[in-house]
Amino acid sequence: MKALIIGGTGGIGLAIIKQLLLLKPNAQIHATFFRHQPRYQHPQLHWHHVDITIETEISTLATQFIQLDLVINAVGILHTATHSPEKSIQHFEADFFYTNIKTNTLPTLLLAKHFMVQLKASRRSYFVTISAKVGSIEDNRLGGWISYRTSKAALNMAIKTISIEWRPKLPRCCVIAFHPGTTASALSEPFQHNVSPHKLFTPKYTAQCLLELLSRLTPHNSGQFLSYNGDIIAW
Ligand SMILES: NC(=O)c1ccc[n+]([C@@H]2O[C@H](COP(=O)([O-])OP(=O)(O)OC[C@H]3O[C@@H](n4cnc5c(N)ncnc54)[C@H](OP(=O)(O)O)[C@@H]3O)[C@@H](O)[C@H]2O)c1
Repeated sequence: MKALIIGGTGGIGLAIIKQLLLLKPNAQIHATFFRHQPRYQHPQLHWHHVDITIETEISTLATQFIQLDLVINAVGILHTATHSPEKSIQHFEADFFYTNIKTNTLPTLLLAKHFMVQLKASRRSYFVTISAKVGSIEDNRLGGWISYRTSKAALNMAIKTISIEWRPKLPRCCVIAFHPGTTASALSEPFQHNVSPHKLFTPKYTAQCLLELLSRLTPHNSGQFLSYNGDIIAW
C-alpha cells in the first residue's frame, strides 16, 4: 500500500501517519511538511517539503509517483498569527478570506489535477480531504467564522464535482470529504475551552475513526461528506 499524506506535521495528519504504520506494516508512506520540520521518523516514511498552495510544487511532487492507493489532504487553517475567525461580517477582511481560500480550498483542486493519473493506476484508491461540518450549508445554524465556512463550503463543492467527473474516469477511486469532529490540535487550540472534554477528540482517535471508515468504503461511496462516526453529512 502506497499513501501520501498532505500536512503530515499537523495534529490530525501526523496521527493518520502513525495509525497507518500501525495498521499496515508494509505500507510505504509519503508525507508533506511546510513550516514545521518533521520530528517523527520511520523507515517506511518519507518526508517532502511542499507549499501546497503552489501548483509547481504539487506538480513536481506528483512526478515522483507512478501509483498511489491513498491521498489524504489534512492541510487547513482556521486562524493566523494576526487573525481569528470572524464573529461578525464587520470583522471580515479580504486578505484573511483569500488566505482561507488559498489554504483550505485550492490545494484539493490542485492535488486532484496532478494526482489523477497515480490514483487511476491503483486497483482501489481513495482521495480524501479533511473538511469540516461548519462547511455544510445545510447544517449552518450558528453563523460566524465566515471565511473558514465559505472556504470549506467551496472545498465541499470541489470534492463533489471531482467525484462526479471521476466516476467514469476513475471507477476504482473513492472521493470523499471527511469531518473529523473537534480534535485537539494547534488549529483548534484557541477554541478548546468551549468544548466539553468528551467531545474533544485526541488526534489518535480521529485517525482511528477515519481509517476504520475507509476500510468500509468502496467507490460506491464516492461523492459523500462523511463524519468521524460514519454519518453522512448534508452538503
Ligand atoms: N482540529 C479540529 O478540531 C478540526 C475540526 C474540523 C476540521 N478540521 C480540519 O482538519 C484539517 C487538519 O487540521 P489540524 O487540526 O490537524 O490542524 P493543524 O494541526 O494546525 O495542522 C495543519 C497542517 O496544515 C499544514 N499547512 C498549512 N499551510 C500549509 C501550506 N501552505 N502548505 C503545506 N502545508 C500547510 C501544516 O504544515 P506545517 O505545520 O508544516 O506548516 C500542518 O501540517 C484541516 O483541514 C482542518 O480544517 C480540524
